[in-house]
Amino acid sequence: MKPRKLKDGIYWVGAVDWDRRLFDDLIPLPDGTSYNAYLIQGSEKTALIDTVDPTMSHVLLSHLNQLSTGRIDYVIANHAEQDHSGTLPQILERHPEAQVVSTSKCKEMLVDLLLVPEGRFLAVEDGATLSLGDRTLEFIHAPWVHWPETMLTYLREDKILFPCDFFGSHLATTDLYATDEGRVYEAAKRYYAEIMMPFRKIIQKNLEKVQGYEIALIAPSHGPMYDRPEFILEAYNSWVFDAPRNIVVLPHISMHGTTREMVNYLVNSLVEKGVTVKLFNLAVTDIGELAMALVDAATIVIGSPTVLTGPHPNVVNAAYLVNALRPKVKFVSIIGSYGWGGKMVKQLAGMMSNLNVEILDPVVIRGYPRDKDFEALDKLADTIVEKHKALNLQR
Ligand code: FEO
Repeated sequence: MKPRKLKDGIYWVGAVDWDRRLFDDLIPLPDGTSYNAYLIQGSEKTALIDTVDPTMSHVLLSHLNQLSTGRIDYVIANHAEQDHSGTLPQILERHPEAQVVSTSKCKEMLVDLLLVPEGRFLAVEDGATLSLGDRTLEFIHAPWVHWPETMLTYLREDKILFPCDFFGSHLATTDLYATDEGRVYEAAKRYYAEIMMPFRKIIQKNLEKVQGYEIALIAPSHGPMYDRPEFILEAYNSWVFDAPRNIVVLPHISMHGTTREMVNYLVNSLVEKGVTVKLFNLAVTDIGELAMALVDAATIVIGSPTVLTGPHPNVVNAAYLVNALRPKVKFVSIIGSYGWGGKMVKQLAGMMSNLNVEILDPVVIRGYPRDKDFEALDKLADTIVEKHKALNLQR
């Protein structure tokens, strides 16, 4: 691929990673990803905004060569994570004149993570500006989107916001802009759920800060750019601020069919009562899909058999994930079965201490469900409906 011109003196010089299927050896990437970097040429100085993952360094270097970039005066490091900073050492080696512009915290981290010499940095305060001649960069500190050192860069004259991970999406595409908004919405929501949701409260403040700027284009460091910025700003506002919806997320697994029978019964009961249910069989679930469902859910019901004395290991994994992601869920319950005893409910409840939730009476039974067990599941469904109605939750 070639560098792509946004307008005179402003180029996308990043890399599209079509083949990557896992990030951090943890997060599924069903649609690949991109590492976006941008070159900004002012009348006097040139800045490179972020670099690319080290596996794609050759692509960034080729793009800069194709543009006959010459001198790079500044490399703006919005974020220290290696998918954006990983090619920084090579850029600095090729451009001994270049200074790395970052927050003080990002400087500390890049010194530690990539052994960048301290003398190469220009640390900037929140609101500081840097002149490129006829263009001006403004730096907006925005900690915890999603590391403590993160900042955004605003190109004043062109009204372009470079927010790095904020508003990003893991999406490999030749579309420079979010033209297929339905597809980008799904990818951006998945990205928010996996990466940003644990910091929802802090992101609320950063989102309010960003909305004080006049923005014509949002150019994140993953996925397509937003030439209709209100599209992604409205989406983030709904994910971050709005109440949860009349949705139950039901991650579950079953070893001999008993828990599945209970899950199926509860699903039917909830659906008959007007609740949307999102089911995830943890034997085959893409955890990104589960994370995405948690963005809007009001209730989580976990379904698990008892393995030895505790929950199934896949359920433990899901409970750990839910606890780490801190969704705006209000209610949690547990259903499942055991053969001769166990401590599943206590163990699972203890694993979700980050959540500010009400625990609804679990339904955990010995053996195959009998009439009284189905009645208990109906009662759980009734309770969920009442709780959702009391909060006036919408679909
Ligand atoms: Fe895309 Fe936090 O790195």
